[in-house]
Amino acid sequence: MQIAIVTGASSGIGKEFVRQLSYCYPWLDEIWVIARREENLKQLQKRIDAKLRILPLDLRKDSSFFTIQKLLKTEKPHVKVLVNAAGFGKIGKVSECTTNTIQGMITLNCTALTKMTTLCLPYCGKRSHVIQIASAAAFVPQPGLAVYAATKSYVLSLSRALRREVKQEGITVTTVCPGPVDTEFFQKAGGSLSFAKKVCMAKADQVVHKAILDAAGGKELSVYGIPMNAVYVLCRIIPHRVLLAVMNLIL
Ligand SMILES: NC(=O)c1ccc[n+]([C@@H]2O[C@H](COP(=O)([O-])OP(=O)(O)OC[C@H]3O[C@@H](n4cnc5c(N)ncnc54)[C@H](OP(=O)(O)O)[C@@H]3O)[C@@H](O)[C@H]2O)c1
Repeated sequence: MQIAIVTGASSGIGKEFVRQLSYCYPWLDEIWVIARREENLKQLQKRIDAKLRILPLDLRKDSSFFTIQKLLKTEKPHVKVLVNAAGFGKIGKVSECTTNTIQGMITLNCTALTKMTTLCLPYCGKRSHVIQIASAAAFVPQPGLAVYAATKSYVLSLSRALRREVKQEGITVTTVCPGPVDTEFFQKAGGSLSFAKKVCMAKADQVVHKAILDAAGGKELSVYGIPMNAVYVLCRIIPHRVLLAVMNLIL
C-alpha cells in the first residue's frame, strides 16, 4: 500500500496539502490525515476523491504515537510523502505566555514533528519525500514570537541534518519556510497583524503548490514569494542585531 501522511490536515496548509496531493499523486492508495477535529477531516473526505484514513489524534499526547506506530506495524505501508504541518504559535512576549502555552508549542512543533518523522522513516524508501513545515520565523530570532520562532529554527536545523542522513536511501527532506499565510493560524496566535505581514500574506494553495514541486525536485528549502526569498537572503548576510532593530520598527 502506497500512502501519504499529513498532520495538521483539518485546516490551512495541511488541508491544502491533502487536496493537492490527491491529484498530484493519484496512484496513492490512501492519505492518512491527522488532526484533533474529526469533523473537519470527514468534511475533507467529501471534497476529494482520494481515500482518506481519518486519524483524529492529539499529537501532544504520547498515546497518539502508540496508535500511529501500531497502525504502521499492521499495515506496513510505503510512505511516499510525509507532511508534518501540525503546529501553532502564540504572539506575545515570553514573559506573557503561560508555561502551558510554551510547553504546548515545543511539544507540538518540535517533539511531535520529530516523533512523526522517526516513526515514518522506516516505512519510507526511494523517492519518498518528507516535507517539514517550518516558517520564515526560523531564519532569525523574533521578539514577540520568540518561542514559536525558536521551535521553527529547530525544525529547520533538524530537517537540514536529516536530509543528509537519509540521502543514501533516496529519501528527500524539504523544509518549507513560508512567511504569513492566510489560514486560521493568526486567529489562534492572537495579537494584531502588522502592515508588513498583511502586505506579504500568501495564499495556502500557492505555498503548497510550490512546496510539492520543490519536494518532487528534491530541494532542501521551499520559500514562497519574492518578499520571503528576500528575507531569507537578508537574514544570511545582515547581522541579526541589525535585523532585529529594523524588525522592531516595521513588525
Ligand atoms: N499561517 C501562517 O502564517 C504560517 C506561516 C509559517 C508557518 N506556518 C506553519 O504552518 C503549519 C500549519 O499552520 P496553518 O497556517 O495551516 O494553521 P492552522 O490552519 O491553524 O492549522 C494548524 C493545524 O495543526 C493542527 N493541530 C493543532 N494542534 C494539534 C494537536 N495538538 N494535535 C494534532 N494536530 C494539531 C490543527 O488541527 P486541529 O486543531 O484539528 O487539531 C490544524 O490542522 C504550522 O506548523 C505553522 O506553524 C504557518
